[in-house]
Amino acid sequence: MKTTIIKNTDLNVSMFCLGGQSFGSRDDKTVSYAMLDQFVDGGGNFLDTANNYAIWNGEGGESETMLGNWISDRGSRDKITLASKMGGTAKDAPMSSKPEHIRRECERSLKRLQTDHLDLYYFHCDDRSVPLADQLGTMHELVQEGKVRYIGASNFKAWRLAEAAAVSVANNITAFSCVQQRYTYLRPRVDADFGFQKSCNDDLLEYCKERDFQLVAYSPLLGGAYIREDRKIQGQYRHPDSDARKETLFEIALEVGATPNQVILAWLTGRGVVTISGASKAEQLSESLIGFDLTLSEDILDRLDAAGAPRE
Ligand SMILES: NC(=O)c1ccc[n+]([C@@H]2O[C@H](COP(=O)([O-])OP(=O)(O)OC[C@H]3O[C@@H](n4cnc5c(N)ncnc54)[C@H](OP(=O)(O)O)[C@@H]3O)[C@@H](O)[C@H]2O)c1
Repeated sequence: MKTTIIKNTDLNVSMFCLGGQSFGSRDDKTVSYAMLDQFVDGGGNFLDTANNYAIWNGEGGESETMLGNWISDRGSRDKITLASKMGGTAKDAPMSSKPEHIRRECERSLKRLQTDHLDLYYFHCDDRSVPLADQLGTMHELVQEGKVRYIGASNFKAWRLAEAAAVSVANNITAFSCVQQRYTYLRPRVDADFGFQKSCNDDLLEYCKERDFQLVAYSPLLGGAYIREDRKIQGQYRHPDSDARKETLFEIALEVGATPNQVILAWLTGRGVVTISGASKAEQLSESLIGFDLTLSEDILDRLDAAGAPRE
């Protein structure tokens, strides 16, 4: 398993971060434990969850509870890099990053996860109704109290990351270490709207490159829709650019003797992106583990980058 140190931290993580979104709600204990065990056996050490997973399947909090139970049963807390988030709509918690919500949700997450600290704590989305100085100031206090080691942003646009970085410097407080964004091989249409979710775009890629800032991708496989009959690629990705990129992706998969999913994961990894993906079956996880181990040549990475419909 390829590993990396998240920039500006001492977190040494597997490039594959297992997303625990459905654990404990859609996926029962047997499935969740099997995925977690297989992931760790395959060399993974980085887990992603949130205080509100998966409110759309249950109450929210089930994922953290399942991860907490598994970590405790396996006695593996010191071997795992544990990331959670707050700020999305949760049970008795509106979509909000007010200081009192940050503190309360952090305490609840620590309890469910049966740990005294989170390695990485993200804002799940960008709450523009609360000054960044207040949000970051509260996160800084949690870092100073030892409850959180590093902080991250999810679903933030590049200009807001730049604002946040300036606020952290001006106030001499903890800065974001990474950004977690929707990012897959297909590029959404320019008018695509994913609600509070933000997709990685050229601005963000440039920001991460110029500032040497870690990008973490989520939903890289579009839930399996690249290859599954029962899942449709979302409308936001339906345009000629996607047809051209899909063609190149499938061509390259044949050339290198891998599946399209594996090429996507290897492309992201090859470009230095830590990637969160999920699985609910052993064969899905096996396929992904191989994809994360696959090294594509620079020439193939360039071809994948360059594919697409001509841009106006
Ligand atoms: N920050 C945010 O706003 C945000 C938003 C979304 C997700 N996330 C994080 O990212 C994680 C991953 O998100 P995601 O589930 O959307 O990622 P994904 O990698 O796009 O999709 C994973 C899902 O694809 C299917 N799949 C995986 N491998 C497959 C294969 N070989 N063949 C067929 N189907 C396959 C499985 O669906 P089934 O299990 O249904 O079969 C699996 O659960 C989440 O768990 C969460 O931690 C963060």
